[in-house]
Amino acid sequence: MTAVESPADLKIQPRDVAFGRGEAYPRWWCGGDPVVTTFFNALSLTFPQGESFFVNSVRRYLPELPEPLRSQVEEFAQQEAFHSREHMAFNRQVAAGGYETKEIDALIRKDIQASKDAGPEVELAVTAALEHFTGIFAHAWLSDPRHFKDFPEELRRLWAWHSVEEIEHKGVAFDTFLFVTRDLSPFKRWLFRAMVMRKVTTDFWKERFRDIGLLFKQDEIDNAGSWWRLVRYLVFAPGLFRQVLGPYLAWYLPGFHPWRHDDRALAAEVETKLSLAPAT
Ligand SMILES: [Fe+2]
Ligand SMILES: [Fe+2]
Repeated sequence: MTAVESPADLKIQPRDVAFGRGEAYPRWWCGGDPVVTTFFNALSLTFPQGESFFVNSVRRYLPELPEPLRSQVEEFAQQEAFHSREHMAFNRQVAAGGYETKEIDALIRKDIQASKDAGPEVELAVTAALEHFTGIFAHAWLSDPRHFKDFPEELRRLWAWHSVEEIEHKGVAFDTFLFVTRDLSPFKRWLFRAMVMRKVTTDFWKERFRDIGLLFKQDEIDNAGSWWRLVRYLVFAPGLFRQVLGPYLAWYLPGFHPWRHDDRALAAEVETKLSLAPAT
């Protein structure tokens, strides 16, 4: 019993678009604010390695997956490959702004290796959990224009494009997890993903705050004032953490599925505004 609940007419469309090539952004590209700039830089630094981990952890099961899930995994993999390419380009621009990112890259490599060491089913559950993160962040970012309002235009487009595609493929890793664990009892399966999410949540944020601290040090702003501004930004205004709290907790409900919340209309509306042209 696979209990796949993704919409029957779901479309996962990889959009091969390039953003901001040749642009030189200021070091504090987000409206001159080092704190908010650092938050997004720290997330972007995780994407190329993280997305490759996601894709490997899901594609491993490709030969045994039924349709349409098998095709969806291929589309998801293609979307993530384009995301990684664009975030690598963006991360080079962050480095060109004067940040040293090699130490953080090495730390992320070690973090990911720890998940790989836990075995394929844990890897898959970690991916499903982190894809839930990206799906709910994407929804919050696209729903509230305050999040990207101080971004340069090409970076707003980059993060909005990425968010649209994260919404489209938000059920793929979860459905693969349901398929792979289909022989577990519903309780064991729930316990498995609930425990993985609890650990992923603490590890992911501990590691991101570590990376943010390392970037703050480079700006000589690793002090209480900066951390308080970050907390205010994440909790109150615009309050990403506050906005995603309910959707995050929904993961722990026994009958949870990412598509219980169908937000394709939001993704479609943003896509129309973006008018994405293919990469050349
Ligand atoms: Fe992605
Ligand atoms: Fe993703």
